[in-house]
Amino acid sequence: MSVTIGTPLQSSAYKVLLLGSGELGKEVVISLQRLGVEVHAADRYDHAPAMQVAHFSHTLNMADPEALKALISQVKPHLIVPEIEAIATQVLVEIEEQKIATVIPSAKAVNLTMNREGIRRLAAEELGLPTSAYRFSNTLEAFRAACDDIGYPNFVKPVMSSSGKGQSRVKSFDEVDAAWEYAQTGGRVNQGTVIVESQIDFDFEITLLTVRAKNAETGEIETSFCDPIGHRQDSGDYVESWQPQLMTALALEEAKRIANKVTIALGGCGIFGVELFVKGDKVWFSEVSPRPHDTGLVTLASQFQSEFELHARAILGLPVNTARHSTAASAVIYAGVDDTNLSFTGLNLALANPDTDLRLFGKPEGFKRRRMGVATARAETTDHARELAQHAAQQVSVQQN
Ligand SMILES: Nc1ncnc2c1ncn2[C@@H]1O[C@H](COP(=O)(O)OP(=O)(O)OP(=O)(O)O)[C@@H](O)[C@H]1O
Ligand SMILES: [Mg+2]
Repeated sequence: MSVTIGTPLQSSAYKVLLLGSGELGKEVVISLQRLGVEVHAADRYDHAPAMQVAHFSHTLNMADPEALKALISQVKPHLIVPEIEAIATQVLVEIEEQKIATVIPSAKAVNLTMNREGIRRLAAEELGLPTSAYRFSNTLEAFRAACDDIGYPNFVKPVMSSSGKGQSRVKSFDEVDAAWEYAQTGGRVNQGTVIVESQIDFDFEITLLTVRAKNAETGEIETSFCDPIGHRQDSGDYVESWQPQLMTALALEEAKRIANKVTIALGGCGIFGVELFVKGDKVWFSEVSPRPHDTGLVTLASQFQSEFELHARAILGLPVNTARHSTAASAVIYAGVDDTNLSFTGLNLALANPDTDLRLFGKPEGFKRRRMGVATARAETTDHARELAQHAAQQVSVQQN
C-alpha cells in the first residue's frame, strides 16, 4: 500500500514529527512541506532552524522519556524522524513495538547509532566489516591500558558524542590522562565510557550517502547510492565537502558493499551517511548516521534530488533518483563570535558568481565554531568547485548588533 497524503492542518493530515530541528532538519522539512506533509519540529530551544519552516514547533528536552512520550501522544505523528542523537531512544523502541508510529529509519538504527559502542560492535563483530582496531573503557585505569594496547597515535571519543565533542588524537602516553579528562567533559551524557581507536592512515575520507527506498512498482525496499562525497574535517567537524570524490573502481565497489551491509542491518527506509576511510583499494568503515549527513549539504548543488529530498521521498515510501547533474562543493560559514541576533553581509559578493549558492540557517544564537550557513558552488572540477565555495563562504561576514 502506498502512502496517502492528506491536507495539512485538517483531520486527514499526514503528520511527521521531527526530533531535532537543526539545519539538516530544516531542509528535510522544506522537502516534506513540498509534498503536502504536516510537519512538527521539536528541539530543546525556541526558534531552531527547522521550527522556522514547520507547521508546529515544540520545545522540550527530548532526552527526557516522559516529555518525549507526552509530545508523541499529543502530536500523534505517522512518522517520527530523529535528526539528532541526544534523544530518549528507548521511548522510540517502545513506540515502534506498540505500532504507535513508524520510527525513521527504524528504532534499532536510531538506538544503535546513538552510541558508538552499539554501531561499532554491530559493524565489526556481527557484520565482520573492516574498522580501525578499538577498545572501550570506563575507568581511567582501563583507559590507560587500552591506549597502550591500541598504540599511538590513536583517537579517543566519548561513546555518546558527535561533531568532534570530547574527541582527541593522542600522540603518546603523556597525553593519555588529559584525553580522558577531555572525553569526560565533552560527552553528551556523563556516562564515562570512551572508545580508543587506532589511527587509520587514509588517503581520503568519504561519506557514501546510501538510500533505502521502495521500488515504485514492486514495493520492495532497494538500496541506491549517491556518488561518493569527499570532505575535510577540522577537530572532528566538517569544514568543506565535494562530490564526486574520485576513487578506484575496486574501492568504490568495496565502499558500496560495506554501506549495503550496514544499512540492511539497520533496516527501514531513508538516507544514511556512511562514513568511510579510503587508502588505494582498501576501505574501512568509520561510522554511520541514519539520516542526512552534514557533508551531504553539497548535494543541494550537485544532484537532481538533494539528500534531503531523497530522505523525504524514501521515508514516505516514494521512489528516489540519486543521479548527480554537476560537480560541486560546499564550504561552512561559522559565526566566529559568541552572540545572539547576528547579521550577515557580503551576500552579494558571495553570490556574484552565477554557479554559487548560499544557505543561512537562521540560528538564534552563534558561537565561535557554530555553523551558521553554508556556501555551495558548481564547476567543471572538484578543485575549482572547492575554490569557489570557499571564496563564497569567505565573502559572508558576520556582524554583531
Ligand atoms: N580511527 C581514526 N583514524 C583516523 N582518523 C580518524 C579516526 N577516527 C576519527 N578520525 C577523524 O576524525 C573525524 C571525526 O571522527 P568521527 O566521525 O568518529 O567523530 P564525530 O564526532 O562523530 O564527528 P561527526 O559527528 O562530525 O561525524 C573523522 O571524520 C576523521 O577525520
Ligand atoms: Mg563522523
